[in-house]
Amino acid sequence: MRAIHIEHDGGPEVLTVAEIATPKPGAGEVLIKVAAAGLNRADLLQREGHYPPPPGASPILGMEVSGHIAETGSDVNARWKVGDAVCALIPGGGYAEYCVANAGCCLPLPASVSLTDVAALPEAVFTVWANLFATNYLQSGERLLVQGGTSGIGTMAIQMAKSFGALVATTAGSQQKCDFCLSLGAERAFNYREEDWLAGALDWSSRRGVDVILDMVGGDYFPKHIQLLAPLGRLVHIATSHGAEVTVDLRAIMMKRLIVTGSTLRSRSVNEKTALCDQIAEKVWPLVDSGQIRPIVDSTFPLENAAEAHMRMQGGGHIGKIMLLL
Ligand SMILES: NC(=O)c1ccc[n+]([C@@H]2O[C@H](COP(=O)([O-])OP(=O)(O)OC[C@H]3O[C@@H](n4cnc5c(N)ncnc54)[C@H](OP(=O)(O)O)[C@@H]3O)[C@@H](O)[C@H]2O)c1
Repeated sequence: MRAIHIEHDGGPEVLTVAEIATPKPGAGEVLIKVAAAGLNRADLLQREGHYPPPPGASPILGMEVSGHIAETGSDVNARWKVGDAVCALIPGGGYAEYCVANAGCCLPLPASVSLTDVAALPEAVFTVWANLFATNYLQSGERLLVQGGTSGIGTMAIQMAKSFGALVATTAGSQQKCDFCLSLGAERAFNYREEDWLAGALDWSSRRGVDVILDMVGGDYFPKHIQLLAPLGRLVHIATSHGAEVTVDLRAIMMKRLIVTGSTLRSRSVNEKTALCDQIAEKVWPLVDSGQIRPIVDSTFPLENAAEAHMRMQGGGHIGKIMLLL
């Protein structure tokens, strides 16, 4: 099969197409004939050698795909059969004609989404569900600040939070991106390059503070987040683009009784991901089926142009997801 091969760590130019053996599904796994694969920021880090795949995962890039089931391994229950159209969260291997997925991490093609666009959903939906809803950190009626509102994660966080009754404000790096966040349902969008988002978010909350922050920045944003949170607020970290080490005045956390937390998705066990998938199938997929929550696709590239797709993400001009088509 054709797959993106990385001869050595480096820039986008190291992504080349190679012929490699088609993987075989093991117990509890399915083989998917890939229609599309979503790009994630972590793919760029893995390409550069800064984010190795977890033990046992394919060394090929790609953590989410859509396509048709081509083969089922042993112990795959009757829910999936050859020919079914699915999307799947996978630990790696998506930039290829075929990839293996755990049967418990597959979701059916929703009525309102195309087979290629649905590959934009798994990583974002799982991440937002796991960090805001599976934990019960975000409740209906609460105020959420989403950092990076036009990222793949951010566009999904805005839609899911709004669908479950929360009020959303967000940051983005240009006026055009802010306008897009507003069109998705955010009440306020602050251009972090030009505006004081902390003052704006405090104003939005009538100076009470926000209940929850979904953050992918960390570093110098951390003390501002502690300041911005309302009593009993929750700060949820999913990435640290401004740095992973921070200092904090613990008294502020104590006085407001804050929760400071975070998580990663890829390193979780198959059982944990399967449990998240079951919750998503029940609570989120009906909203995708009806079109209330939709994939936001920035651009598509043929597999052969994976390097160009990585350059698009590296340039930072994208809104939503960048996709590879097989
Ligand atoms: N922990 C987990 O389980 C998990 C899972 C999936 C993803 N992630 C992380 O989530 C992040 C988003 O992933 P993605 O694939 O959706 O990547 P992406 O589309 O490339 O998004 C990166 C985002 O960071 C924003 N950003 C950069 N500097 C910022 C700043 N100073 N203030 C506010 N926002 C800023 C960018 O905003 P502009 O474009 O507007 O400049 C952009 O929206 C990545 O860091 C990724 O590693 C974590």
